[in-house]
Amino acid sequence: MSNGVSIIDFYNMETDFATEFRRLLHNIRNLQGDADLKSIMVTSAMLAEGKSTVAAFLALTAAKKGMKSLLLDADLRRPTAHRLFGMDRDNGLAEVLSGETTVKSVIRKTSLEKFDIITAGRAVPNPSELFDSRAIGNVITEMKFYYDLIVIDSPPVIPVSDPMLLAQEVDGVLLVVKAGATQREVVSRATDILRSQSRKLLGVVLNNMTNQLPYYYDYSHYGYDYAPRPKDLARSKSKRSRRDQGEAVEDQPPADKSSRQ
Ligand SMILES: Nc1ncnc2c1ncn2[C@@H]1O[C@H](COP(=O)(O)OP(=O)(O)OP(=O)(O)O)[C@@H](O)[C@H]1O
Ligand SMILES: [Mg+2]
Repeated sequence: MSNGVSIIDFYNMETDFATEFRRLLHNIRNLQGDADLKSIMVTSAMLAEGKSTVAAFLALTAAKKGMKSLLLDADLRRPTAHRLFGMDRDNGLAEVLSGETTVKSVIRKTSLEKFDIITAGRAVPNPSELFDSRAIGNVITEMKFYYDLIVIDSPPVIPVSDPMLLAQEVDGVLLVVKAGATQREVVSRATDILRSQSRKLLGVVLNNMTNQLPYYYDYSHYGYDYAPRPKDLARSKSKRSRRDQGEAVEDQPPADKSSRQ
């Protein structure tokens, strides 16, 4: 059951935390180039690296910045969006994929005019069977008609196969990495899996969970580290080697006054 409490009511755009998400959004839009990056899947190598948190705040930040934004909870095993936004989980993606209802009928409005959510739907015994790539592809294609950005929360790529199907249906993939915790080989395995299926890996979001969270907000700090394009490689090399030696190195985005509120 929902308790009705939503992170929308606590999201303060003046915090450092919100600034990180504006940067992330800005970087995604910068990557856009000629490609249409409307549907972004958020995944990770393993469980509990912060996928759902990143997906929720990215979609919310986009809406705050005036984009028509949809958060789609496609993690049918460990759904989270309904809890973060104080909703019931039933009547969501699972009902659509099982052919019981239409996508439009499961879109939830929020207190923000530009921000909608599709929850994971009722618990199903067989998420993988339900997760048909053509069906989810149709959902995403239809939603692209109505939204500027669709952020899709998904299961982790190493233990679960659903994200691989999803990766083929989206415009871009973000890999969340729990900073200081997930082993390099594990991240590398996840990127190999993603790259074997699609060429849509946009970059890595480093989620630093080591700090204590303020009351209610389940967050502390996010950094990001985009997969370098060839021209960026030389520039980031020394930073990379410092980071490899365990030094905390922050990436600085290009100054962007327009992305600030
Ligand atoms: N930056 C952060 N600082 C502190 N806690 C965080 C941070 N990011 C996420 N968390 C907390 O860590 C837990 C896992 O986060 P989240 O649910 O977003 O991860 P997930 O990758 O979606 O997990 P799952 O694999 O279960 O879907 C949650 O309790 C969340 O509130
Ligand atoms: Mg999750």
